[in-house]
Amino acid sequence: MTASRSLLSPQLPVALSARGQIDAFLAMDVMREAAAREAAGQSVLHLEVGQPAAPLPETARKAAERALAKEADKLGYTEALGRPSLRARIARHYKERHGLDIAPERIVITTGSSAGFILSFLALCDAGARIALPAPGYPAYRNIVRALDMVPAEIALKAESRWVLSPEALLEEHSVKPLSALLVASPNNPTGTVMQPEAQKALARAAEDAGIAYISDEIYHGLVHEGAEESILAATDKAVVINSFSKYFCMTGWRIGWMVIPPELVRTVERLQQNLFICAPALSQIVAEAVFEDTPALEEIKAGYARNRARLLESLPKIGFRDILPADGAFYIYADVTPFSNDSRDFAATVLQETGVAITPGVDFDLERGHRYVRLSFAGAETTIAEAVSRLGDHLKG
Ligand SMILES: Cc1ncc(COP(=O)(O)O)c(C=O)c1O
Repeated sequence: MTASRSLLSPQLPVALSARGQIDAFLAMDVMREAAAREAAGQSVLHLEVGQPAAPLPETARKAAERALAKEADKLGYTEALGRPSLRARIARHYKERHGLDIAPERIVITTGSSAGFILSFLALCDAGARIALPAPGYPAYRNIVRALDMVPAEIALKAESRWVLSPEALLEEHSVKPLSALLVASPNNPTGTVMQPEAQKALARAAEDAGIAYISDEIYHGLVHEGAEESILAATDKAVVINSFSKYFCMTGWRIGWMVIPPELVRTVERLQQNLFICAPALSQIVAEAVFEDTPALEEIKAGYARNRARLLESLPKIGFRDILPADGAFYIYADVTPFSNDSRDFAATVLQETGVAITPGVDFDLERGHRYVRLSFAGAETTIAEAVSRLGDHLKG
């Protein structure tokens, strides 16, 4: 792919790679703009990024302090696959939370789930491979796939199927041109849809039968408000599971996550990790192991999200937002804003400028239909969400 190689500038006459020319992650762009406004004195409410407002809970914070005070000499590289004690702790989590026996050897500690996507795509797919991605979906999937010289095959989710990918839709896309992998998130970002266990199993079975690798992004596990939460690992050992300490565990900036992979893939992923990242940050691995002891505090934080969700589901329709998508899990509302605008980018920019409420335009998540939607994160404090609703209501009335 050399077609769009272009010179950086006359002053620096080197060529840019075509694959580096991916779209921006708009939520992060909005976050930068919101931070600049805040620094300039505007009162900003952050509903743009999926980031818990709650601080790191106490046991984990104390583990960080202890590690820095007493174990600083141990904060070097770890084994590429991660500290054995953390891998064992995650295996215990699967037993306790899901009743599943997962061998710690199948668990890989990653630099956030973001690194998990790169490792999965590189382990499973060659350049040029087609990867099925339901839309709307997390924007970085599409952009990482492009940066790796693979091809995103977006499949439009529909209201009729409650914004869940059906086996039929997957196989139809596969019949157009073969797919190498499918990446599904449940709960989904931005729709909040949770796939029920039977639907998830049927999709995984269809993918496996067709030779399509099933990658399950379970980053919003622990944050299901309606319906059942089940890891795909309950149905199959062949899937690749990606998870993270960023969301339920409130550790976004620590850049730490994990994968559960089939035994046959471990050595390949280990070699990729050794060379691409060496290992996940050592301090973050220590803190992640401790954060499991903070479950009571994390459950309280989750209860706050549930209250935020209830408030938004009740108040947003009253101020004119339409067709709010399921919001069964995660901490997002994805809502139709066509009563106000047919250009969600413009709508979000105006709302930020005039009210200080930062939200993300739907075009981040869905190139085709996202101009009609915006995403609001309710991972913030309850006072923030209440104030945001009030400001939005006043603005949209006017
Ligand atoms: C669905 C989904 N997957 C993955 C990520 C990336 O998370 P991290 O790299 O912090 O684990 C996010 C972040 O918002 C997300 O929404």
